[in-house]
Amino acid sequence: MSKIAVVGSNMMDLITYVDHMPLRGETVEAPSFEMGHGGKGANQAIAAARLGSPVVMVTRVGEDTFADATLANFARNGIDTTHVLRTPGAPSGVAPIFVEPSGENSILIVKGANAHLAPADVDAAADLLKGCALILMQLEIPVDTVYHTVKRAKEWGVPTLLVPAPALPDLDVARLADLAFLTPNETELATLTGLPVETEAQVEAAAKTLTARGIGTVVVTMGGRGALLVSGEEVRRVAPVKVEPVDTTGAGDAFIGAFAHFHTQGLPVFEALGEAATYAADSITRRGTQRSYATADEFRTRFPRKA
Ligand code: RIB
Ligand code: NA
Repeated sequence: MSKIAVVGSNMMDLITYVDHMPLRGETVEAPSFEMGHGGKGANQAIAAARLGSPVVMVTRVGEDTFADATLANFARNGIDTTHVLRTPGAPSGVAPIFVEPSGENSILIVKGANAHLAPADVDAAADLLKGCALILMQLEIPVDTVYHTVKRAKEWGVPTLLVPAPALPDLDVARLADLAFLTPNETELATLTGLPVETEAQVEAAAKTLTARGIGTVVVTMGGRGALLVSGEEVRRVAPVKVEPVDTTGAGDAFIGAFAHFHTQGLPVFEALGEAATYAADSITRRGTQRSYATADEFRTRFPRKA
């Protein structure tokens, strides 16, 4: 079965559910708190693994109780942890998150050990990575490690996907030209291209400047408005899946992990994106990040495949 790799981050999510955000100097009581596993890289890995894909994780944890919990969480979900590396003296990554009654969130990330994931760590995992059908990346690790992975994967003939989040102003698109997939949201697309993204025509035009520079497929994620797929001359709209939001944390990662699973299992890109949109929407109907990701059985029970 096709294997997926994630070269990316892991975080411990510290999620506070608030009635409203405190103002500076104000103390506000919040109704509840939950801690759970997160980090954009780990989230994508867990989504793909829950759906049944074999997954390899290349990441760094620190030297604290979160490190052990994170390793155990990967193992419990069947993820290959050979390259989950410990970083002596470093804290593990953490993400204080605030979720408002609308289900929308505000996220702080403290990278901790994730900031130490180096190009050499990718080289050390070369034998495993070479055998993968797709490598997923995000920007919660050093950007040089991302550029290096894109370059090595090209040599190995393994397609790569980058989620350019959190947005990084001086990303070097020339060093990302070999990506098979780039999946910005509208803000990240504007940051990457310096172009306006107010209208759908502008979003399409901006995305096309990226495919013109060599990137295979650009998928612009638009939250509750679905996604736009731009690949060569092909431009298609992925319809949003409407649900009652409870907690949107990690929905974007669920989308990418699910896309990676369905696409490497043989579904064409557009169809895989449709399944991924449903999987992500399902996750926002429940609290938590990875905790809200369905297994393949749960997913199919709730959303039987249309004949
Ligand atoms: O995309 C959601 C994730 O962003 C959270 O799990 C948090 O850890 C941050 O990395
Ligand atoms: Na959720």
